[in-house]
Amino acid sequence: MVHVQFNTALLETVRDKVVVLTGGATGIGRETVKIFHKNGAKVVFGDVADGPATQLTAELASENVTYVRCDITSYADQLQLFAKAKDLYGGIDVVVANAGMSITNDPFSPDADITKEPPTKEIDVNLKGAFFTARIGMSYLRQNGGGDLVLTSSIAGFKECTGLTLYTATKHGVIGIMRGLHLAAIKEDIRVNVICPWMTRTAMVKEIETGWDELKLPANDPEDVGMAVVMCATANRGNGTTHKGAAAPFAGKIIFVAGGQPYEIEDAIQSLEPQWLGVENSKVLEVGQAYLMRPGTSWAAPKN
Ligand SMILES: NC(=O)c1ccc[n+]([C@@H]2O[C@H](COP(=O)([O-])OP(=O)(O)OC[C@H]3O[C@@H](n4cnc5c(N)ncnc54)[C@H](O)[C@@H]3O)[C@@H](O)[C@H]2O)c1
Repeated sequence: MVHVQFNTALLETVRDKVVVLTGGATGIGRETVKIFHKNGAKVVFGDVADGPATQLTAELASENVTYVRCDITSYADQLQLFAKAKDLYGGIDVVVANAGMSITNDPFSPDADITKEPPTKEIDVNLKGAFFTARIGMSYLRQNGGGDLVLTSSIAGFKECTGLTLYTATKHGVIGIMRGLHLAAIKEDIRVNVICPWMTRTAMVKEIETGWDELKLPANDPEDVGMAVVMCATANRGNGTTHKGAAAPFAGKIIFVAGGQPYEIEDAIQSLEPQWLGVENSKVLEVGQAYLMRPGTSWAAPKN
């Protein structure tokens, strides 16, 4: 684990950059919109919460912040969100897949009625929605000659999270999108990174807040997580300088945000591979991975 410390001089690098972000109306997304805007970026954000979204645009009263109604489970909506940013500004530099939700009724509860199909909206919003954002976002970043894609997972992306099984599966999936994508993306100068917030004071976690505080456990404010997003979006833009503790290029990283502080954890996970997989398995895996990365290797079946 590396405690990464924000080099505030890099905030200047988002000036005039075009940011597309999902779920910007409330919570972490809202604070992220504000930080980007305050530092001179042009932000186009999507959400389904029209009330808070229009309240935010009214509060900022800026031609540099645009709200587009966008349900991220709809591919057409997401295409429209990105097209709006392109129409307004001609290109996109940073994409943030932030929107998410959780269903707190446990479908595995012993008294759950298993004859009724359970809701699976967490898959649609958290995984399918993030996948759509990543796919369309990659295309626009490619057109721009590179950029930053930041995906919001969770502590539930890498830890047990009792009572939120499906949410946990989707957030593991978001890390999967990064791991599946980033090695190819970096060749196009597109940096894919993931944010994994621990408990952050937003509407999503209202029910556990009192118990959390009684135990005096560390919590983030939404702007702490917003700063971690901006950290990812600026780490590679400093012409040789970056955030203290950040490895360069800053890509394929996971930022765990706890008690207001960002910690990079993916490099340690990868470097410990011979320990958790075994030295021999790890060596052979490396050869297999190199084969899969070789130009010409393809998963697609040959066309007859
Ligand atoms: N709060 C936490 O403790 C915590 C911890 C880990 C991860 N996260 C993640 O952080 C992200 C932001 O969550 P938050 O805590 O700010 O909660 P939040 O509920 O305040 O914000 C989520 C936003 O996403 C929007 N949204 C939901 N479904 C959508 C859809 N289908 N299309 C478009 N927008 C949609 C909501 O309207 C809302 O504005 C989520 O991905 C969440 O899973 C939060």
